[in-house]
Amino acid sequence: MLNTVIVGTQWGDEGKGKIVDLLSEHADYVVRFQGGNNAGHTMVVNGKTIISHLIPSGIIQQKKCFIGNGVVVDPCVLTQEIDYLVSNHIDVSPQMLKISNRAHLIMPYHKAIDKAREAKKGDKKIGTTGRGIGPCYEDKATRRGIRFCDLMDIDLLKEKITAILEEKNFYLEHYFKTSPLDPDQVISDVLALRDRLLPYIADVSVVLHQGSSNGRTLLFEGAQGTHLDIEHGTYPFVTSSSTVAGNAAGGSGVGPGLLKEIIGIVKAYTTRVGEGPFPTELFDDTGQILQKTGAEFGATTGRKRRCGWLDMVMIRNAARLNSLTSLAITKLDVLDDMDEIKICTAYRYNGSTLHDFPADIKTLAHCTPVYETHPGWKQNISGITDYADLPDQARNYLERITGLSGVPVKIISVGPGRESTIIKQAVL
Ligand code: GDP
Ligand code: IMO
Ligand code: MG
Repeated sequence: MLNTVIVGTQWGDEGKGKIVDLLSEHADYVVRFQGGNNAGHTMVVNGKTIISHLIPSGIIQQKKCFIGNGVVVDPCVLTQEIDYLVSNHIDVSPQMLKISNRAHLIMPYHKAIDKAREAKKGDKKIGTTGRGIGPCYEDKATRRGIRFCDLMDIDLLKEKITAILEEKNFYLEHYFKTSPLDPDQVISDVLALRDRLLPYIADVSVVLHQGSSNGRTLLFEGAQGTHLDIEHGTYPFVTSSSTVAGNAAGGSGVGPGLLKEIIGIVKAYTTRVGEGPFPTELFDDTGQILQKTGAEFGATTGRKRRCGWLDMVMIRNAARLNSLTSLAITKLDVLDDMDEIKICTAYRYNGSTLHDFPADIKTLAHCTPVYETHPGWKQNISGITDYADLPDQARNYLERITGLSGVPVKIISVGPGRESTIIKQAVL
């Protein structure tokens, strides 16, 4: 397999975890490069469900896994996730997992600020996962974050935390009117995890480069989705990292020349968790059917996902922003019972037709989808493993997605399990 990047094309939860798990079989190293435990990636193997938030999904296939410099890591969640995977008989020893010495730690004050800020915003909230993601990236950008390499020097670490808490506590107490955090407690909580974390810390950039030079294949696992990207998404209703494929390089410390195959994961319809405009959202029975049939509940927060038809304006946008070389269509089986299926091909806005995704959410909120309607296949496709065995209507739907995006569909997922997959064209 060529070095491959997997990214979400919509607003997350496209089924990235399942496809990463599947393709990990052919990779040597699996790498997360952005986001944090706002992600929830679900794998179903032999009927057993495993959800990972931070550790690359490749760990299930027992491939060497890496958390790159672009990821923000909550050390409590990380150690809990290691324990959870180990209790499921998965080896997560330091031989299997390395964390970049440049990755930033999500600290208790990041979580406190995330929650307090959302509460203060009331109905203008973003609908974040409350995991401290935004405030952690904020500190990274303003150059006062705590990085894994800071765990090496205890005195300096204490000094940094004490200094930053002076400011954070002022903000928490006087702006948000919530309780301040005790510096001694924050420091002792981090130090309690330090000995456990130290053996996992490495210069991930150097290790990936060495591996790649020795012929190891890299698989990069994106979190969130293209339309949650801080630059290109539905700002401000986005996450705080760059979710697009280019950041697989910057977020892990490899050069962009190493990225060869870029797979965009496309859910056969659209979902969104949290607030923000969603042109093809369905508020009728069909939306509820998609939500129920697709079991659309967030893997991280358990919130109901909003549902709507497939939006090809978004997928075209994702194809351009990520240089997609192939598409994997997931959850096609969820459409099995539909009489007809709609695809949004463009937007109507203020009397004109838009083919490109607008930058401004006020414009997006007033866009109405231009739909084309396709007949449903009205049969259970979840057991099909050969493309040729799919009903004509399903194949036509997939061909239309390729036609409208200009990107070939190579993988089709028809159920949550590894086995429920059709490989139309090898991506190896
Ligand atoms: P991720 O964040 O992109 O990894 O996606 P999530 O794991 O949050 O959400 C995808 C959900 O859909 C999970 O519950 C998967 O088990 C499930 N899933 C993935 N592919 C399929 C599929 O082809 N069909 C069905 N019915 N479920 C799927
Ligand atoms: P995976 O990797 C879906 C959404 C949140 C919120 C916005 C900002 O499982 O696809 P944040 O906590 O990141 O500051 O929240 O982004 N969000 C996700 N939605 N899937 C995810 O990850 C998400 N990660 C963040 O719901 O709207
Ligand atoms: Mg998810």
